[in-house]
Amino acid sequence: MITPVHFRKFFFAFLAIFGFAWTGLVVLPWMQLGHLQPMPQPGGNDILPWDASGLAHAGERVYAANGCVYCHTQQVRAPQSGADLVRGWGTAPNESGDKPAEITRRTFPRDYIWQGQVFLGNNRIGADLTNVAARFKDANSLYRYLYDPSVLNPHSSMPAYRFLFTTRRVAGAAPAEGALVLDARDKPAPGYEVIPTSDGQALVAYLLSLKKGYDLPDENPGPVAMPTEESQ
Ligand code: HEC
Repeated sequence: MITPVHFRKFFFAFLAIFGFAWTGLVVLPWMQLGHLQPMPQPGGNDILPWDASGLAHAGERVYAANGCVYCHTQQVRAPQSGADLVRGWGTAPNESGDKPAEITRRTFPRDYIWQGQVFLGNNRIGADLTNVAARFKDANSLYRYLYDPSVLNPHSSMPAYRFLFTTRRVAGAAPAEGALVLDARDKPAPGYEVIPTSDGQALVAYLLSLKKGYDLPDENPGPVAMPTEESQ
């Protein structure tokens, strides 16, 4: 028979297990990372990391709503934990204009402080997108890719996001300024043009904001020995 004593024991055991897990998983990480502030740029008058535009922040919602995080991570691991750096996922042009021309590094918690929702992800079916803006230089190449991922890889398992675009009749003499420049096979019928919706524009602004071309000096342990492909 369950007596009040049994119940009390069960209750306190339950409380202890829950309290222990909550302290380890919520309180300690919050104490460690919850108050991270931007830091002054060494030798400059900017702060690091810098924030993205409002449109890019709106794009975070589109990224979340379309499940990109199920196939893409946004975390570049240290060399001892994976081959992310070798794959080029940690490389972006140096935005400070100084040498070296490119910065290759893992990501640190401070990199994420401006992001409303952080999309670390745990599945690397597609490439890591931490520095995707370093690989796609302009909006049109990203639009083209989202419209038809098979442009870059004919066997792509990435779904096409055509609902982020509308096809409409060309109103004037020439296609509108924001109309996509598409390959022959994706071209709409003559007299029509493909335009990104506002969700599509926000998503691409978000993707173009993803580059970590700055160093975080106090967190960066300095140059790391880059593993070669053979050593992985
Ligand atoms: C079902 C899995 C899947 C989903 C969901 C997915 N992708 Fe992908 N994505 C891939 C794969 C796989 C690749 C690798 C290249 C290829 O096969 O075309 C890729 C490649 C990419 C690339 C090119 C990366 C590079 O540097 O080469 C971009 C950009 C991209 N995806 C963006 C997105 C966005 C934005 C979303 C959400 C709207 C999304 N993906 C959703 C699987 C996915």
